[in-house]
Amino acid sequence: MAGITTLGQFIIEKQADFSYAKGELSRLLRDIGIASKIVNREVNKAGLVDILGDAGTTNVQGEDQKKLDMYANEQFISALTSGGECCIVVTEEEDEFVPIDSPVSKNAKYIVCIDPLDGSSNIDVNVAVGTIFSIYRRKSVDGCATITDILQKGTQQVAAGYVIYGSSTMLVYTTGNGVNGFTLDPSIGEFCLSHPNMKVPEDGIIYSINEGNYVHFPEGVKKYIKYAQVEDLSTRRPYTSRYIGSMVGDIHRNLIKGGIYMYPTTASSPNGKLRLLYECNPMAFIIEQAGGVASDGLNRILDMQPKELHQRTSIFIGSPKMVKKAEEFMAEFS
Ligand code: AHG
Ligand code: MN
Ligand code: MN
Ligand code: MN
Repeated sequence: MAGITTLGQFIIEKQADFSYAKGELSRLLRDIGIASKIVNREVNKAGLVDILGDAGTTNVQGEDQKKLDMYANEQFISALTSGGECCIVVTEEEDEFVPIDSPVSKNAKYIVCIDPLDGSSNIDVNVAVGTIFSIYRRKSVDGCATITDILQKGTQQVAAGYVIYGSSTMLVYTTGNGVNGFTLDPSIGEFCLSHPNMKVPEDGIIYSINEGNYVHFPEGVKKYIKYAQVEDLSTRRPYTSRYIGSMVGDIHRNLIKGGIYMYPTTASSPNGKLRLLYECNPMAFIIEQAGGVASDGLNRILDMQPKELHQRTSIFIGSPKMVKKAEEFMAEFS
C-alpha cells in the first residue's frame, strides 16, 4: 500500500519517542483502535439493528442511557480487558471506576478514562457522534491503581484522543508530540494517516454554544456572543454559529477550520455540564498540542486538580485568539 501509513505503523514508528514504554502504550492505543472499529460498525448500521433508542437505564449523571452508550461502553471495557495494558477504566457510563482484574492486567501500567459514546442525543437522528479517551500512567507501584492514581491533573496524561463517527470515521490522538488524524478505510479496515500534524488556526469566525441557555449564561459569555454577532460589518467579518450537540463534532470542526466551543455554567449545570476526566481533559490536551487553548474561562483545564470521577467544569476551547477574547469578557464582566 504505497504511501499509506496505518495507525498501527504510525504508533510503532513513534514508539521511539517513549523511553519508558516498551510497547505497552502502543498496544493500548491499538486496543482502543480495534474497539472503535467495532463501535463504528454498529453506528453505521444504527437503524437497521436494534441499537437505537433508550436502554431503559440512567447513569450516574442522571441521563437516560442509550443502547449505543451501553454497547460502546461494553466494547471498550472488553477490548481494554483483553488487551491487558490497562488496570482501571473510568467511564461516563459506570458510577465507580472499573478495576480490570484479568490475570494479564494485574500489573498493567495504564488507566483509561473514557466517554464511550459522546453526543448521545444525536444517535437516533444520524448526526455525528464520537468517543473520547484519556490515558494516564499508574502512579502506585504495587498492583492495580487506586483513586489517587485516577485523580491526576490533565497535565499528567500520556495520551488522549477521540473518534468521530461522522461522514467518515476518524481517530485523532496525541501522545504529547503533536496531533495526528487517521481516517478509517473500510475497504481494508484500517485507520490511515490522513491529517498529519494537525494545527488549530490561530483565529476563526465559528463560535459553538447552545444559545438556548443564553438567559442563564454568565454576563461575560453574553457579552462575547454579542461581540461575535458584530454590528459594524466594516470593522471585521461577521462570525457564524455552528452547534452540533456532540462535543467531538463541534471541536473537530473547530480544530480544522478554527473556532471556539463554549459550554459555560448554566442554570441546569451550575458547575458546567462537561466532565473533566473523560471530556474536557482529553480534548484540552489535544487542542493545546495543536496550538490551541482550553480553560474554564479563567483557569487552564489541564491544571485542574480533579476531586471526583464525574466532576464537571465549564469549558472554553479552540483558537487561541478567540478563547483569549472570551476570557477577557469573562474577566471584565463576570
Ligand atoms: P454525552 O452524550 O457523552 O453525554 O455528551 C454530551 C455532551 C457533549 O457531547 C455535547 O456537546 C453536549 O453534551 C450537548 O449538551 P446540550 O445538549 O446541553 O447542548
Ligand atoms: Mn451522556
Ligand atoms: Mn460526552
Ligand atoms: Mn457519553
